[in-house]
Amino acid sequence: MSYQNQRIAEVAELLKQRLGELEQKPEILKAPELKGLFAEIPTLPEAERAGFGKEINQLRAELTHLVSEHADKAEELPPIDVTAPFDVNAAADQRPQTFTSDRGSQHPLMTELDSILDIFYRMGFNAVESRQIDDDYHMFESLNFPAGHPARDDYDTFTTTEGLIAPAHTSTMQNRVLQQYKANLEKGEDIRVVIPGRVYRNEDLDVTHEHTFYQLEGVYVGKGIHAGHLIATLKTFLEEYYQQDLKVKTQPFYFPFTEPSFEFAIERPAELRRNASHADEWLELLGCGMIHPNVLKMAGIDPNEYTGFAWGGGIDRLVLMKYAIEDIRHFESAKLDFLRQFS
Ligand code: DAH
Repeated sequence: MSYQNQRIAEVAELLKQRLGELEQKPEILKAPELKGLFAEIPTLPEAERAGFGKEINQLRAELTHLVSEHADKAEELPPIDVTAPFDVNAAADQRPQTFTSDRGSQHPLMTELDSILDIFYRMGFNAVESRQIDDDYHMFESLNFPAGHPARDDYDTFTTTEGLIAPAHTSTMQNRVLQQYKANLEKGEDIRVVIPGRVYRNEDLDVTHEHTFYQLEGVYVGKGIHAGHLIATLKTFLEEYYQQDLKVKTQPFYFPFTEPSFEFAIERPAELRRNASHADEWLELLGCGMIHPNVLKMAGIDPNEYTGFAWGGGIDRLVLMKYAIEDIRHFESAKLDFLRQFS
């Protein structure tokens, strides 16, 4: 903006320069030079007063505008780099500020999973998490279900239009962990891996069935491993988890990826019975068996030299019984009253 009056033009220049240096920008509106201009009005000849007054007002308006423009800029927050939290090299002050929460807590299933894994770590197992999207080879082929195998129908889950599969069990990881750890065998060490993961089934939902739940898979391979090792491992784990002696039994079953295959059951302990009708109840907890020679072969392990066992079962189910929870669907229900009982 330019000013006709020489005096006002000079003051305008001076004040705009000062505004740049001022820390408290609004102070400029109280500048003595501005007040001085107003004070000059009565000293001027009548004819000049109106024009002079108008230009001072213009100057004040311009300064007010510059002050508010600066305030708007100051309110603009610095940009946030959304990739920073994932960038291990990003400096702490470059990462976004996230809200801290003193109210949330870990989901009870994950707390239980931690304690389950701790037991297996003490038994010498490693843990590998399963994938939530997988392919036909890992879901079926590598587990000895060739195309068209009727047992494929027992694992009805969700697929993408590209043919990818939301895994119906954590066994999808068997081929991967066997390959990953087979160097152990050459060193004379066993393969001991547990695989927790989220799995999916196209199920009719009820108090014991969810479409999305968690499983824990286990794989143990070495020289001279037999079904006695399988039963002892599972019994030891379950007695540690439930902190009491348990009666266990196996009954014959069929899975394409084990031979022989079993269902593993425990007798429901007295304090884990919700009512008298649960007395002497055998609870089928998981599927297990000796790893089929074809499964070992497909992972490049010689079944004549090594044998192994595997199992897989629902984590939710273990937790349901531990706390006598009546409905598996509570876990995913976001019912805070339910969840808070565990924190
Ligand atoms: N994957 C099976 C299921 O979800 C459970 C199972 C059975 C896992 C036998 C195993 C196994 O590793 O050896 O029904």
